Amino acid sequence: MSLAFEVQPQRFGMAPRRAPGDDFRAALRELAGGVSIVTTRLGARRTGCVVSSLTSYSLEPPTLLLTLARNNSTSDLLLESGGLGVSLISARLRETAHAFARAPSGEARFAHGSWRETTPGGQWVIEGALAAFECRVEETIARHTHLIVLARVLTVETKAGDDADPLLYWRRDYRRLS
Ligand SMILES: Cc1cc2nc3c(=O)[nH]c(=O)nc-3n(C[C@H](O)[C@H](O)[C@H](O)COP(=O)(O)O)c2cc1C
Repeated sequence: MSLAFEVQPQRFGMAPRRAPGDDFRAALRELAGGVSIVTTRLGARRTGCVVSSLTSYSLEPPTLLLTLARNNSTSDLLLESGGLGVSLISARLRETAHAFARAPSGEARFAHGSWRETTPGGQWVIEGALAAFECRVEETIARHTHLIVLARVLTVETKAGDDADPLLYWRRDYRRLS
């Protein structure tokens, strides 16, 4: 069998693992990530998805980075609309995020939780998020199965107070810090 590459973690004292494949997939389950909901709208059409790939990219200019599977419905509408809303999900929104992820794509995903526009006609974000951003798509790079999305931040909102924990995803399940 030919391999694209072989990871050689022996220097860390671990057994060698081959990637990509089942071992790679299993290793990635150990990567804990914050949970966000990314939405996009074009007029009355809206959809979105739960992501764990969101990360900060640069402070100046304010930019976020995420990756989206090219075959998911959010990618298509995002490329058309050129805009996105990002909500950082708190542990309290676990069930809402789960329902959002399970619902059919499009309007049905917004049936749970309380949604509002960042600005009139802007992007949709969820009430109770730890922070919310409206962004425009600055650049997308289509590589392999995914789109790399650089999202320029237009508006920022943070939740008052620090009493809420983030929702995390680790070992194929939602987790909280404590
Ligand atoms: C915790 C979690 C994290 C996810 N992270 C990503 C991600 O970073 N990128 C992505 O494209 N899909 C991610 N997904 C999958 C999407 O949420 C969802 O399955 C996908 O949008 C379904 O495609 P559809 O919108 O065409 O129905 C994640 C799902 C879960 C539950």
